[in-house]
Amino acid sequence: MHDSVVRDLELARGRTLGLTDLDEPTLVAQHDPLMSPLVWDLAHVGQQEELWLLRGGDPSRPGMLPAEVDALYDAFKHPRAERPSLPLMPPVEARAYDHEVRGRVLDLIERTPADDLFTAGMVVQHEEQHDETMLATLQLRQGPPVLLERRSLPPGRRVEPDRVLVPGGPFTLGVDAATEPFSLDNERPAHAVQVGPFWIGRVPVSNRQWLEFIGDGGYERPELWSSRGWTHRTHAGLQRPLFWTGHGTRRRFGHEEEIPPGEPVQHVSYFEAEAFARWSGGRLPTETEWEKACAWDPATRSRRRWPWGSEPPDPERANLGGLGLRPAPVGAFPAGASAYGAEQMIGDVWEWTSSDFVPWPGFTPMIYRDYSVPFFGGDYKVLRGGSWAVAPSTIRPSFRNWDHPIRRQIFTGLRLAWDG
Ligand code: AVJ
Ligand code: FE
Repeated sequence: MHDSVVRDLELARGRTLGLTDLDEPTLVAQHDPLMSPLVWDLAHVGQQEELWLLRGGDPSRPGMLPAEVDALYDAFKHPRAERPSLPLMPPVEARAYDHEVRGRVLDLIERTPADDLFTAGMVVQHEEQHDETMLATLQLRQGPPVLLERRSLPPGRRVEPDRVLVPGGPFTLGVDAATEPFSLDNERPAHAVQVGPFWIGRVPVSNRQWLEFIGDGGYERPELWSSRGWTHRTHAGLQRPLFWTGHGTRRRFGHEEEIPPGEPVQHVSYFEAEAFARWSGGRLPTETEWEKACAWDPATRSRRRWPWGSEPPDPERANLGGLGLRPAPVGAFPAGASAYGAEQMIGDVWEWTSSDFVPWPGFTPMIYRDYSVPFFGGDYKVLRGGSWAVAPSTIRPSFRNWDHPIRRQIFTGLRLAWDG
């Protein structure tokens, strides 16, 4: 347990340092009002690591930074839009601070009993989530590429039929510490739910399908959109996914390239996903349906740890880790299929569900109470499955992400569902 937590801490830090190995102007600039300057994320991961592991989660307990500097990295005190005007630590200082915190944390972990490592695992997941956020920032950034593609992806394949049936019946939604020790508070506790029969797409919706939707007037037909969705589509002038140019190309990490038809569509909002689903004669899955299709094994009437079984993710089963800088084409991972035959549920693109972000019955907050609690019941839709940019340590079939229904700078796509 110690070794794997230490390894995951090191993997996260390697990614953070790799993504911020950029010149100072690139690190201090705000590339989009939705995002922090990268140098804020760089110090925030260390500040949170210090807070949760070295200061017992109590910000009034003196730390390694002067109190007024420490407070700059409190996400609730400073919304993203104002972060570039704060007197942030320059990159060299931020890296030195992160390094100093990490040294003390590694000493502490050595002396921590194995069943007390949850908070360290939570800190891993926090840093990895910021690594994904930094990738979203770098995707929004204008200018020549600064990241290299360091992973090649398997080819896609034609997937027929396009959907699988998930028969009705009981299912265990959510997990407990006993089976998923690093699951976060919002994934717990495991509890029985009844799920009616439904069909779910074998693979995520592709760019090819999205081009058909556009060609069929999908963005011009109010009857396909919810009323909130249509209002947003009109005010924001939506015509195509974010980063598509309108002449058959897209911008991706500083490259302009043809839109690959076989890749899962990404950078669509919930409202666009909902309109696409209506156009196609389907709907979005609920998060409960999504999790059952991903993790339930009807033969054993129990959950699988991963869609394909108990072995950890590998490059034949899922596209994770962020090195490819893109989703793999649909059909790329037949070996990653769930018990019901749904593929690419883990990795590639976050998938919008129709569910609002609410606690499971029996929810108990973790030490980082404000990770989930302030967001329950807000204007958020749940996203499942993780994108190509998430780390294996930070995704599971039970993992719940959430965002506002208008957001599309994250690596979001969708999978269809149909009533059974
Ligand atoms: C779970 C991805 C919605 O980025 O807002 C990072 C993760 N929380 N630091 C976010 C998070 C605090 C969170 N999401
Ligand atoms: Fe954070």
